[in-house]
Amino acid sequence: MNSIDVQPKLRSLKPPRLDLLNRDSLKAYFDNTWELYEMLFSAIKSDETFYQSPDRLRNPLIFYLGHTAAFYINKFLLAGLISEGVHNDWDHLFAVGVDPDLPENLDVASTWPSVKEVRAYRKTIFNIIHEVIDNAELTDLPITQDSPYWALMMALEHDRIHFETSSMLIRQLDVELVCRPDNWDYAPSFGNISKNEWIQMKGGSVPIGKPNDSNLYGWDNEYGSLTVQVKPFSATKNLITNAEFWDFIEAGGYENEALWSAEGWEWKTRTNTSLPKFWVIRNGTFQYRAMFDELSIPMDWPVEVNAHEAWAYCYWKNDGLRLLSEAEFLLIARERTPETEDPLYTDKYNLDFTFGSPSPVGYMTAGATASGFNDIYGNVWDWLQDDFYALPGFKTHPLYEEFSAPYMDEEHSMMAGGSWATTGTGASKYYRLWFRRHFFQHAGFRLAKSTSTQ
Ligand SMILES: [Fe+2]
Repeated sequence: MNSIDVQPKLRSLKPPRLDLLNRDSLKAYFDNTWELYEMLFSAIKSDETFYQSPDRLRNPLIFYLGHTAAFYINKFLLAGLISEGVHNDWDHLFAVGVDPDLPENLDVASTWPSVKEVRAYRKTIFNIIHEVIDNAELTDLPITQDSPYWALMMALEHDRIHFETSSMLIRQLDVELVCRPDNWDYAPSFGNISKNEWIQMKGGSVPIGKPNDSNLYGWDNEYGSLTVQVKPFSATKNLITNAEFWDFIEAGGYENEALWSAEGWEWKTRTNTSLPKFWVIRNGTFQYRAMFDELSIPMDWPVEVNAHEAWAYCYWKNDGLRLLSEAEFLLIARERTPETEDPLYTDKYNLDFTFGSPSPVGYMTAGATASGFNDIYGNVWDWLQDDFYALPGFKTHPLYEEFSAPYMDEEHSMMAGGSWATTGTGASKYYRLWFRRHFFQHAGFRLAKSTSTQ
């Protein structure tokens, strides 16, 4: 092999601190953010595929190619960092994402520009962002929420959110339509694992919310302050694996209505679901759909399911079982991450694109908590029991009023801990995420139950 052809693995850079950043660190972070997204979309073999909607509840992929770029322009305009847009129609066409409850409620544009045109549009915007950074007045640090450069920090993190959500869309394309990028590595799998275990937690007082003076960019829903008194509970040491979920399938879990919530059963029957989303049957055997390839089912990796499936598994195991609450999750997580340590700044987890896939549960041994919980951060998200809610003191940010507020309702469940595809400030301990319960992300779950043990 010619050594010139060997691609170095693309690593994700850590977000620059708001009080320490400079022109070089900002530009390096932006370039890395852009490159990650470009690499992801380079996996799509044909331009025609960009006009597919791999998820019927989402826009076609061409929208997401333009969306992250247009977001910089629209926020820069709002913040006064630039005085004019790039394209009269496309800045608007690519501006707003969607969150319909049903496919028929998805309002999709009927015509889209060509892939070539959108790539040229992206290139123009890339140059504008470089110009904005080159000319930025960065003498007055930290960048705060009322600074125009908050728009830049926001657009960077928005780009990274879409690295993850677009990866989920691309993973839903037919496998023949994609090709794994050179520097995209899957984690190993070692087959079956030993039995999952329960770990008892005493409970305690858990503060939730990011301080207003944090030196890391934050989304509106992270701020505010709430203290929760967590009662004693226990939870599984590991995320539920594909091997454990196999038992649920074999026991007829997908056919037993009694295990499902009414909403979950409605989703299951409407979508005719009888297996986890990324299990496929090829020549009579189960295969696992990784990002760009079909593999033998990695039994020691966490199962990836939506919240309905996670809940049905809980009911099947025992009707007293449930998912973790947000406060319980944080109680566990903070054993490992006291105020001085943020998972974002460590390499102890399958987070921040360490691997391009989930990894065996417990494989990242350095990330185990003092009580023994594995993969609290990274690998796959933990679906939580809580509906998405505002912390006391929550305020929307004027640059993005609709970021989280429209989703604080009983139709969106929370998840925590990040996945292998979570990068940037999404990998921080303050990040809070939500989705509709039937949506798929790189998400799984662990079991929890209330206990009386002190
Ligand atoms: Fe977006």
